[in-house]
Amino acid sequence: MLPSDMTCGSLLQSDPDAFTGCQSCELWQWRTQVVPGHGNIDAKIAFVAEAPGRDEDVKGEPLIGPAGQRFDRQLERVGVVRDDVWLDNAVHCRPPNNDLRAYPNALARCPDLWLTPTLGSLESLKVVIVLGATAGGLWFPGEKATAIASLARNTGKVVVVGSFHPSYALWSGGKWNSIDDAIVRSIQRALVYANLLEVATWK
Ligand code: URA
Repeated sequence: MLPSDMTCGSLLQSDPDAFTGCQSCELWQWRTQVVPGHGNIDAKIAFVAEAPGRDEDVKGEPLIGPAGQRFDRQLERVGVVRDDVWLDNAVHCRPPNNDLRAYPNALARCPDLWLTPTLGSLESLKVVIVLGATAGGLWFPGEKATAIASLARNTGKVVVVGSFHPSYALWSGGKWNSIDDAIVRSIQRALVYANLLEVATWK
């Protein structure tokens, strides 16, 4: 069962065991557990990354491994803490070797089944920030990661803001400072769209 403060999304509320026991794609065979979205159900901002890695699979919370720790520092730079926001993944089970491309069924099924209803149930949600090309592809199909990082789109319900994935800052060698800065700028754009930051103070 999901802890009640993390339960959101109509199907998650009415039948949480369907989520924790999901076998809609082949990833269930290798997971330690399904990793639900986590955070504040009154959040105005949600972040959507790709899929759980090893740490997330073991502990059951998104973005707590090395990329997540990097992401915490990026949030800190704009005065946001993870308890203020919603954190989720496009896919909720860890793919072997963290290679989601090898399991196309997961990306074809998991977001519609679990991410969309979860985001839809966050009543205060104003902005979704997509971290990287996988989550970005859900709202900006066909765009490359570098293009997604500078895109924004109003769906009518929320504004979707593109960003690099925090792991890109970990693995991009000498460029990491500028990737960190680009992610911070995407978060600042999201704060402006969510009316949490005045444009005048956005440096
Ligand atoms: N951890 C997550 O929860 N998601 C990612 O995309 C990467 C690491």
